[in-house]
Amino acid sequence: MSRATLRAISGPVLRARAEGPFALREAVRVGELGLLGEVVRLDGDEVLVQVYEDTTGLRPGAAVVGDGLPLAIPLGPALLGHIFDGLLRPLAGQAGAFVTPGLRQAEAERFEFTPLVAPGARLAGGQPFGEVRAASGHVQRCLVPPLAGGTVLAVAAAGPRSDSETVCTLRDAQGRELPLAMRHSWPVRQPRPVRARLPSDAPLVTGQRILDSLFPVALGGKAAIPGGFGTGKTVLLEALAKGCNADVIVYLGCGERGNELAGVLEEFPELVDPRSGRPLMERTVVIANTSNMPVAAREASIYSAVTVAEYFRDQGLDVALMADSTSRWAEALREVSGRFGELPGEGGYPAYLSSRLAEFYERAAVVETLGGARGSVTLIGAISPPSGDFSEPVTSHTKRYVRAYWALDVKRAQARFYPAVHPLQSYAEDARLFAPWWARQGQGAWLALRKRFLTLLDEQARLERMARIIGKDALPVRQQLTLACAELVNDAFLRQSAFSPIDRVCTPARQAAMMRLVAKFIDLAELAVAAGVHPERLAALECLRPLQRMGEEIGDDQPERFAELEARVDREFAALTAPAAPADGAADGAPDSDADEEPQRATDR
Ligand SMILES: Nc1ncnc2c1ncn2[C@@H]1O[C@H](COP(=O)(O)OP(=O)(O)O)[C@@H](O)[C@H]1O
Ligand SMILES: [Mg+2]
Repeated sequence: MSRATLRAISGPVLRARAEGPFALREAVRVGELGLLGEVVRLDGDEVLVQVYEDTTGLRPGAAVVGDGLPLAIPLGPALLGHIFDGLLRPLAGQAGAFVTPGLRQAEAERFEFTPLVAPGARLAGGQPFGEVRAASGHVQRCLVPPLAGGTVLAVAAAGPRSDSETVCTLRDAQGRELPLAMRHSWPVRQPRPVRARLPSDAPLVTGQRILDSLFPVALGGKAAIPGGFGTGKTVLLEALAKGCNADVIVYLGCGERGNELAGVLEEFPELVDPRSGRPLMERTVVIANTSNMPVAAREASIYSAVTVAEYFRDQGLDVALMADSTSRWAEALREVSGRFGELPGEGGYPAYLSSRLAEFYERAAVVETLGGARGSVTLIGAISPPSGDFSEPVTSHTKRYVRAYWALDVKRAQARFYPAVHPLQSYAEDARLFAPWWARQGQGAWLALRKRFLTLLDEQARLERMARIIGKDALPVRQQLTLACAELVNDAFLRQSAFSPIDRVCTPARQAAMMRLVAKFIDLAELAVAAGVHPERLAALECLRPLQRMGEEIGDDQPERFAELEARVDREFAALTAPAAPADGAADGAPDSDADEEPQRATDR
């Protein structure tokens, strides 16, 4: 074990004079409390250490002792259902609850172990040797650590075991005995190896219509949610955590103000999994670093979170990681870099901000695991750009690496239009890959409908600009129709409250039904207008209101009500265009029911 003597302290960064060889990224213990740190730079006999705990009270002269191993986190059955700090040490459950300084690992816990192998079996890294059944019914696999392997010498019988005791012993190729427990350590900054990265042909189903139907992210893909303060990032991430079809959720609360995270910490344990009716925490890991926790631990927390996600992926599961927010992580990187005395780049961030973001998002993938299973990690990062400016470095660099970009719009949020995802600033680069998937859900026309909705929304923006100048009524009828249809897409389809008992999660089947119904209305409206009906008469149709409210009112288990509504739409249009109807002249004085969209009249010169 190498030793060094502490010489200077600058917040979380220490300089020490080495008395033996240290390795870059080696974990170290500092001072009497054994504070946890990591070697971040070696310069002759000087080591630069980043400390993950509060360094108040440390004095020059204190001992820095090397571990001989890179900084690692414990991965095992004790993760699910619990709340940890950035280095995976258990938090008591309240924000502001600090871990005991110097604490390395959680206390051992007992789990119901079932062996999956017998002595004599050959096991490679990443293969399961046993499993753990939780009372909740969740099964977790106990994996041989990725770089280990050998022939099974002994394996424990089924029964309750501590997660740190040896339950399986291998003899490796060199003839050494290798004891395995249900948990193993893995270096926090090193991606866990896989057999192959696979292409993704399915979306992560989020349960949010505007995301699944317009801007889907791949299972194993990467998405960013940039949004100014109060635009709904946290609510959206939580809605995704509750509603997406991943098997395991890793929720990283990174550096947001303590009181905001307190909300998450209090709320998560209460959340009910809409799929099973059981507590959502049973398949969730929460990692929390509030802004009052040491800054370096915040920098590490994003790596801990993605390593945890990979660990569950390696068990053949689909994992979604939600990070709120990557901006706070980047700020931690900036602060620590400043303490190292590195030259600041754009926005004060170190020049390697971009490559760090790339490395993080690169860890999203669908893979064939070392054990031969198929698993995935989907990464979703919120970004909180200062004063909502999306041209700042974290947003602009992240944009280069994500495939789905869900930009939250201040104006929509102010109008309480949620989720406030801006349909023109957002995009999904993989959308067309998912057409076959939607076809399998019975929505063969998905890509065409999606394009149609996006085109309408695009035209709406253009026409609204024009309407602001010349007045809405001065627009040709076809354009008035376009505006009305785009409004319907917004109100009847894209708007979705995260707090509505029926609508907070929307299944693909229900999304498809709603999308078809809105498209049907638009088709009929276009035909009617082509036949001479004035768009204002469409606004008076009685089926409009139930269409706008169908998300809130028609549940997943009532598909017949969509059929009823469709029949009603058909009936009302038939009546509208029936031959008896008088030819539509310049109808004036018809009451305008949607007063909220009254265009501003341009002043005459
Ligand atoms: N999808 C949503 N459905 C309903 N209300 C929402 C939604 N998103 C945001 N809100 C409202 O906006 C408020 C602020 O959202 P929040 O997620 O805390 O913003 P941010 O994290 O971007 O600062 C919430 O308290 C809630 O009232
Ligand atoms: Mg927030």
